[in-house]
Amino acid sequence: MPTILAIESSCDETSAAVCVDGQILSNFIANQTVHEQYGGVVPELASRAHMQHIVPVVDAALAQAFPTLQTPGERLQKLDAIAFTQAPGLIGSLLVGTQFAKSLSLSLNRPLIAVHHMQAHVLANLIGEERPTFPFLCLTVSGGHTQIVLARSPLDLEVIGETIDDAAGEAFDKSAKLLGLPYPGGPLIDKYAQEGNPLAFKFAEPQIPELNFSFSGLKTSVLYFLQKQEPGFIQENLADICASVQHTIISILLRKLKKAVQQTGVRQVCIAGGVSANSGLRKALQEAGAKHGWKTFIPKFEYCTDNAAMIAITAYHKYQAGQFSELSVGPTARAEW
Ligand code: KG4
Ligand code: ZN
Repeated sequence: MPTILAIESSCDETSAAVCVDGQILSNFIANQTVHEQYGGVVPELASRAHMQHIVPVVDAALAQAFPTLQTPGERLQKLDAIAFTQAPGLIGSLLVGTQFAKSLSLSLNRPLIAVHHMQAHVLANLIGEERPTFPFLCLTVSGGHTQIVLARSPLDLEVIGETIDDAAGEAFDKSAKLLGLPYPGGPLIDKYAQEGNPLAFKFAEPQIPELNFSFSGLKTSVLYFLQKQEPGFIQENLADICASVQHTIISILLRKLKKAVQQTGVRQVCIAGGVSANSGLRKALQEAGAKHGWKTFIPKFEYCTDNAAMIAITAYHKYQAGQFSELSVGPTARAEW
């Protein structure tokens, strides 16, 4: 019955979660609003905000998990292991969580578990009652990554397709920026798209081989399209443009997902990552599931975007397998799978 504290600090969310025997008892997330005015995450500011947030966030996660224990010291004594996101991410952000986890591991004399952020996004699907059995496919779509993963077991995950340039989240955010929407624009495109016609405007879909994706052409295509229009066009057609951009991104994603099902014969299909919060993608996945006979899974919203619960569930499986890290371990910005 391992009790694990997990810390996530790879980008601009500081999060801590406690998991007992694979059950999530708490999952606290502090968002950083400081980046909005700059139109993207500013690494230096992200590190500083992690420094401010990490103690209160860890405190809150422990307090919710062990409500009958009075002091932080008593709560910390309940832990069997400390887990943290080791890669990939912004190095200054990763350093804060890594050092905090290592210090706790050293002072409490408990094992340390290093977790890969992208593997954790996939395993977020194992949180809760409704979960896939192995093998399953997972489309992981976030601000930094777009991957199709074949999961054979919790610790046997293979990337079978990925983006060759921008991530799906970047396609949302960069298109939103061209429309004059603030960062991160993905949720706003989702919101306006709900009132618009997805077939109003047509944007080119790239022809990329195998199970890989490309999204950089979409941004250029939206840019050229907007440059040709009269002043006031965006304001008058915002919902239709958003719906059409979203429709194109979802169509690119679903086409490759269908191909992955055909190639692997695996019919349990999950999504994960920040973009899996998109209402159009969630609907499209369910419709594709109904049409093609797939069993589909979507994590709860709080486990889609960056969170420590997914780090905790991954750490639980690594604990069972005896996969611990040395105290000399450090973060890496880019990590091979
Ligand atoms: O997984 P995540 O929280 O952080 C990364 O690891 O990147 O993903 C953030 C990305 C951003 O690009 C954001 O715009 C996008 O997820 N996103 C959405 C929605 N909610 C978040 N994109 C489209 N529709 C949404 N509802
Ligand atoms: Zn992420």
